[in-house]
Amino acid sequence: MFWFHLFLSSILVCRATVCPCERPELCQQIREERDFEVFVFDVGGKTWKSYNWSMVTTVATFGKYDAELMCYAHSKGARVVLKGDVHLSYVVQQYNRTAWITEKVNLAKSQFMDGINIDIEQAVDEGSPEYYALTDLVKETTETFHREIPGSQVSFDVAWSPNCIDKRCYDYATIAESCDLLFVMSYDEQSQIMGDCIAMANAPLTQTLNGYAQFLSLKIDPKKLVMGVPWYGYDYPCLNFSQEGVCFIIEVPFRGAPCSDAAGTQKTYKWIMKQVNSSLSGRLWDDKQQAPYFNYKDQKGQIHQVWYDDPQSICPKAESVKSKGLRGIGMWNGNILDYRDEAVARQQSAMMWNALLGC
Ligand SMILES: *[C@@H]1O[C@H](CO)[C@@H](O)[C@H](O)[C@H]1NC(C)=O
Ligand SMILES: *[C@@H]1O[C@H](CO)[C@@H](O)[C@H](O)[C@H]1NC(C)=O
Ligand SMILES: *[C@@H]1O[C@H](CO)[C@@H](O)[C@H](O)[C@H]1NC(C)=O
Ligand SMILES: *[C@@H]1O[C@H](CO)[C@@H](O)[C@H](O)[C@H]1NC(C)=O
Repeated sequence: MFWFHLFLSSILVCRATVCPCERPELCQQIREERDFEVFVFDVGGKTWKSYNWSMVTTVATFGKYDAELMCYAHSKGARVVLKGDVHLSYVVQQYNRTAWITEKVNLAKSQFMDGINIDIEQAVDEGSPEYYALTDLVKETTETFHREIPGSQVSFDVAWSPNCIDKRCYDYATIAESCDLLFVMSYDEQSQIMGDCIAMANAPLTQTLNGYAQFLSLKIDPKKLVMGVPWYGYDYPCLNFSQEGVCFIIEVPFRGAPCSDAAGTQKTYKWIMKQVNSSLSGRLWDDKQQAPYFNYKDQKGQIHQVWYDDPQSICPKAESVKSKGLRGIGMWNGNILDYRDEAVARQQSAMMWNALLGC
């Protein structure tokens, strides 16, 4: 009998996940609601150790699961959430949808996580089976997470505007109602270039703010919107270069548009800050788009134009988060600043974090 009990209890111990944190209470999920969200996407590695944890409220982990990050975030009162992505055609059927949600909530529980960030960037036609499946998926995921993990957070990533950007014709109003918050990806705003095929800002100010006006005109509660700003930019090789400094780029069609930012390469703020110093032009400022850029020549003699965001371009966006009463701000992604322990880098990274809170 004794041996039988020992056998049984060892099975049970093996099946329940052991808390990996130094203190067991750090495995408890976060329940408090904070007034202002600072929502960070983490893509892996250990640079999270250099985040400004006095402002971080949620970390969406898009890299490998890192128990050390979970324990640390909890010690700072910050949530850690899973990434959720699935082929929408697979979850049209209720049975498959429930199976997907059950798998995710069990994964979150076994890793002591505080919710899920649903990142489905697929093209969807209005009224299609996938259109309804997506709305149902968000609603059912939220219900399940809230029930199974009290205090958990379910968020959904949306493009910079709800107007079928990149053919994502979703039921934005119902999706917003059905989850805790929408993370608005106010970047990649040149994914569909309809006019001249030229290099432009990743997140021009006026266009960015128009996106929020459109979400709000759908009667979405401003407290459901988190503004996502880019901590990366685009490097475009120029086909030719006008007298005024306009860089023409090759035509790369995307979801119905003849040209796209896919003609460029995404570069981290860390790379950009190094490159701008050895550029032809130095940092330039575009008044119309309210964004910095520069030109440089590569080793083969090819001229490039780089568009990016820095504290000066982020600051008016962060101010509008406050003036519009949005839920908060966040970035893609937290890892790509220069976190070396060196004075210039430290100062530069601190300024990027602080810009999130306004000017
Ligand atoms: C259910 O999901 C699986 C993948 O998880 C997929 O292969 C299958 O086709 C789906 N079934 C239906 C009916 O959509
Ligand atoms: C640059 O190339 C584009 C596209 O090929 C063309 O429309 C434009 O006129 C050219 N501009 C200059 C200054 O050569
Ligand atoms: C770039 O130049 C600025 C101003 O000249 C200087 O303060 C900074 O240290 C340089 N940054 C790097 C990464 O070399
Ligand atoms: C971190 O953010 C707080 C505001 O929440 C700010 O007061 C502090 O100076 C920042 N820390 C650093 C190292 O910049």
